[in-house]
Amino acid sequence: MAQSFDMVVIGGGPGGYVAAIRAAQLGLKTACIDDWKTPDGKPALGGTCTNIGCIPSKALLQSSENFEQAGHGFAEHGVRMKGLELDLAQMLKRKDQVVKASNDGVVYLFKKNKIAFFHGRGSFVKAGADSCEIAVKGAQNETLTAKNVIVATGSVPRALSGAAFDEKLILSNDGALAIPEVPKRLGVVGAGVIGLEMGSVWRRLGSEVTILEALPVFLGAADEQIAREAWKIFAKQGLKIELGVKIAGVKVKKDVTVEYADAEGKARSAVFDRLIVSIGRIANTEGLNPEAVGLKLERGFVAVDEECRTNLAGVWAIGDVVRGPMLAHKAEEEGVAVAERIAGQKPHVDFNTIPWVIYTTPEIAWVGKTEQQLKAEGVAYRAGTFPFMANARARALGDTSGLVKFVADAKTDVILGVHIVGAFASELIAEAVVAMEFRASSEDIGMICHAHPSLSEAMKDAALAVDKRALNI
Ligand code: FAD
Ligand code: NAI
Repeated sequence: MAQSFDMVVIGGGPGGYVAAIRAAQLGLKTACIDDWKTPDGKPALGGTCTNIGCIPSKALLQSSENFEQAGHGFAEHGVRMKGLELDLAQMLKRKDQVVKASNDGVVYLFKKNKIAFFHGRGSFVKAGADSCEIAVKGAQNETLTAKNVIVATGSVPRALSGAAFDEKLILSNDGALAIPEVPKRLGVVGAGVIGLEMGSVWRRLGSEVTILEALPVFLGAADEQIAREAWKIFAKQGLKIELGVKIAGVKVKKDVTVEYADAEGKARSAVFDRLIVSIGRIANTEGLNPEAVGLKLERGFVAVDEECRTNLAGVWAIGDVVRGPMLAHKAEEEGVAVAERIAGQKPHVDFNTIPWVIYTTPEIAWVGKTEQQLKAEGVAYRAGTFPFMANARARALGDTSGLVKFVADAKTDVILGVHIVGAFASELIAEAVVAMEFRASSEDIGMICHAHPSLSEAMKDAALAVDKRALNI
């Protein structure tokens, strides 16, 4: 006999598990199906983000930064280190423990909210006017019926043509988070978010890192001034990034040879001990069986409207498997909004205020429009910048790299975008998100008291700089 629910979520990543929690809070009888398993076959809730994405990458970014600081940063503070050693096995073990704690956290939240969890692959069987049938295959074989289904099946890494991932020499994000010894020569294809974060981890641990990027510009999605500043800092750190390359082929023997044309079109080749391929991700609908019910896909993504409705009544889709940025917090916001819509509420997700963060050192974070976007759209704006060099807390911290930049409407002064490269940019950007949600002006931020000494004063000074009245420069 099929078990019946008000809502079944397929996928237990940040989109799916948060949607399930919100639905349960709203009194819906909720189930979540997820197929992630540990090497010994146990469930591991949390999806890509928890298992091989946000969480383990941030754990390794922190550990490798500690190693770099101990080796190169502490001496300036008068803290001398002798006999510094890297225990990579322990570093990887700690990362796995951080992941496990996060997996367990989701299990706890499911129990607390009385969400039924099914470990296995969910696939559509039938979709009727007021209910859907979903088969679960895996550790448990079940049939579920639900009035509402949320597809939250996430994404998988895109492989380079002719270079399938073997997770030994050619690595996706999965293998890149578990290299058992520091490679001497590490190649990375793609200077996007994963390339920069994982390239940074392994450079700090001792690899010579070369990143090969197809586009002629660096970090095209970021504000140009911020990208230029980040480029200079990364180059100084020893991260070698080649732009405008065209990969011609990848040969795997004992090591990996990448043949490519450089920006001038000259044929080149480079030999690496390992190669990370981080050239974007594709929507994951494998095994979902969308054809069985006529669920519409567009370029591989589940097609949805702005409220995450698919073409089928009662079937919704959220997160990486649908259009929009592939970010955990975007998936979560969509999950909450869909659960609330199902419960009859009228929530709204503002795509203009979704923050981006790249967790390099220094961190890069932004929200809203870049200066180049505003120019292209013909919007009259004023910009104000403030360097961390002029911020006392940054000097005390020992990291004065980077700057904060505000762009505001020339007439109304409403903040249109905030761009940061600098220490703790991931935390500082939250103030900008709140300000933009409340349609604050740059003057509003300039009028608010910010604690002294704090990096947040650089936010205030950059906001004041829009009106050419920064106080500390
Ligand atoms: P996912 O997290 O991919 O979860 C989908 C789940 O559904 C998985 O568990 C999958 O196994 C399961 N599933 C798929 N099909 C089925 C099926 N048919 N039946 C049952 N289960 C199924 N984003 C950030 O915001 N911040 C970061 O710092 C960040 N760092 C990242 C670092 C890396 C290395 C990577 C790869 C990604 C990172 N991301 C980050 C992106 C983030 O991980 C994704 O945007 C997020 O995980 C998307 O959530 P989701 O719920 O849509 O899908
Ligand atoms: P990405 O889209 O960020 O970057 C891919 C890069 O590869 C681009 O610069 C692209 O021009 C380049 N590229 C594409 N094809 C290429 C080719 N054939 N040769 C050379 N370069 C090529 O994708 P990435 O880094 O794989 O990450 C996937 C997604 O995961 C991100 O877009 C982001 O949404 C998410 N993510 C988020 C993080 C965060 O929020 N801190 C961290 C890591 C991932």
